[in-house]
Amino acid sequence: MPDFTIHILKDSASLARAAAAAIETLAQNSVAEHNSFDIALSGGSTPKSVYALLRNSTKMPWPHTRLFWGDERYVPHDHADSNFRMVNEALLKNGPVPPENIFPIPTIQPTAADSAAYYDAMLREKMVRQNDGFPVFDLVLLGIGPDGHTASLFPGTRAPLEMTRAVTWCDPTVANPAVNPPVQRVTITTPVIWRAENVFVLAEGESKRPILAKICAPDPVENPPVARLLRQCKHAVRFFLDDAANSNTRT
Ligand code: 6PG
Repeated sequence: MPDFTIHILKDSASLARAAAAAIETLAQNSVAEHNSFDIALSGGSTPKSVYALLRNSTKMPWPHTRLFWGDERYVPHDHADSNFRMVNEALLKNGPVPPENIFPIPTIQPTAADSAAYYDAMLREKMVRQNDGFPVFDLVLLGIGPDGHTASLFPGTRAPLEMTRAVTWCDPTVANPAVNPPVQRVTITTPVIWRAENVFVLAEGESKRPILAKICAPDPVENPPVARLLRQCKHAVRFFLDDAANSNTRT
């Protein structure tokens, strides 16, 4: 069971700087060790500012860095809710990443299940390092929803329970009709997150404080499913939180 390392930053900008610096260091070390850095990017809004900082980084080894997505909304890549579009605007468009190093989750297939099957096969083809048939990322970057989802492993759906495939899909509205955006998702699975060499969790704002208090509480038995997921990771799990999201911050 990994120890959680929890970095508390005073505000969103400080969190972004700390996370970007940690990614740069990890990328340099990974490339020094095995000449590549494979990262599964998080969606949502929190990582946007991290990606914008990395766009101007002079330390990232972009020629040896390959970008994958940890999850995607099942919408066109130019849709406002697309995680690809968010990363494209923050980092990729006219940016430093060689196009051949960018591997988005496609959403042009007839169904989300087809997209998941396609990406599952692509990961198994592209990812050099594998463990028990699952791709091994150097870094999986995650956010946390107030409901305790991470990537698109939404509680109450089948996605968190998928233990044989590397990529699956779900419709989060079946468990929470109020989920936003109310669209189907494609996501890497629990076994892939467990096997990552490094997991970074980014969370900011008051709305994340209750779920983080549960995740970081000492008793994993009582914790929400996502906490047990993270506590079963094989390697290091590092949290980057701002004061607002930190349950130990008295306000
Ligand atoms: C997504 C994400 C999801 C996200 C959390 C936190 O596609 O929405 O991958 O897991 O990380 O919902 O989102 P925010 O960063 O917007 O709070």
